[in-house]
Amino acid sequence: MTNNLKAAIIGSGLIGCGWAVAFARGGCNVALFDQNADAAQQAKGMLARLAAELETAGMLDGQTAESITERVHIAADLDEALDGAVHVQENVPEKLDIKKAVFSELDTRAPRDAILASSTSALLPSAFTEHLSGRDRCLVAHPINPPSLIRAVEIVPAPWTSASAMDRCVDLMDRIGQKPIRMQREIDGFIMNRLQGALLQEAFRLVADGIATPEDVDTGLRDGLAPRWALLGPFETIDLNAPGGVRDYVARYGPMYTKIAETQRETADWTGQTLDEVEEARRKHLPLDRIPAAQAERDSRLVEMMKHLRTNARKSE
Ligand SMILES: NC(=O)c1ccc[n+]([C@@H]2O[C@H](COP(=O)([O-])OP(=O)(O)OC[C@H]3O[C@@H](n4cnc5c(N)ncnc54)[C@H](O)[C@@H]3O)[C@@H](O)[C@H]2O)c1
Repeated sequence: MTNNLKAAIIGSGLIGCGWAVAFARGGCNVALFDQNADAAQQAKGMLARLAAELETAGMLDGQTAESITERVHIAADLDEALDGAVHVQENVPEKLDIKKAVFSELDTRAPRDAILASSTSALLPSAFTEHLSGRDRCLVAHPINPPSLIRAVEIVPAPWTSASAMDRCVDLMDRIGQKPIRMQREIDGFIMNRLQGALLQEAFRLVADGIATPEDVDTGLRDGLAPRWALLGPFETIDLNAPGGVRDYVARYGPMYTKIAETQRETADWTGQTLDEVEEARRKHLPLDRIPAAQAERDSRLVEMMKHLRTNARKSE
């Protein structure tokens, strides 16, 4: 927990609201600013919903949803939001020119020692911070939606980000209860989208090559690999899948994966007939107009799963 440190959240959409609740739960005083005054006011409903979700999941460590939302203040302007902030989390639309303009403003107007972090999903920090005099304190802190519920966050430096800025950001994320992943350098996709992208490549390839239907691929993941992956990462998984641990696993199964990799060198087709097939399969199970209801159901099941994982945290390490 932090001792009332101030975090400024810039942009009050989906991710901004998630961060506001995450920082408030971690003990920060939060100022939320959006250039669209209506969006900032609408954020109040989303903040209340996200905080209530955490309360239901037993993830508030004795705090109430109300005490969390009370710690979030809607700022009237950017200067009010930035005043006294030790950490600024930017969550504006994923457009390079907007990120560049917002970071220029933040670098000029935020306290000199504040960390300037972007939630960008796919832009490298070097793409929008090179021109800034305070570029050494700029980095990416990329969450998974919603950061109030899902703790992993990728902390990504530009080539000029200082080690102390990385240290301070990682430390703050730890203190508010997130799980920071400290990256050594920037790379497209960071870590999590690279892992997800590799899996999607193979999913599309299996369909494109007529090996499996889209439903079969989803079954293989959902009912095969994913239950373990909710508990363990890939290295932890293979360490438990051979009596002698990871080295033994590689000795036994490494050649099989090398052989498979030979057939995975080409980029899979995500368009045309393959996409038609995947879309047809999805729409058969879920008409487009039922997507919002399915998202809500996914979120409530995710809350239940997080609750279970939290109350049954592993004791082996
Ligand atoms: N949606 C996701 O699943 C997800 C996950 C991780 C990261 N991200 C990243 O988070 C960022 C925000 O995404 P989102 O889904 O919350 O977008 P969103 O469209 O829901 O919200 C963006 C908000 O920024 C506001 N805004 C625009 N220009 C502004 C400015 N100059 N100053 C202040 N506010 C401004 C808009 O009014 C809007 O409320 C993007 O970079 C996105 O790539 C999104």
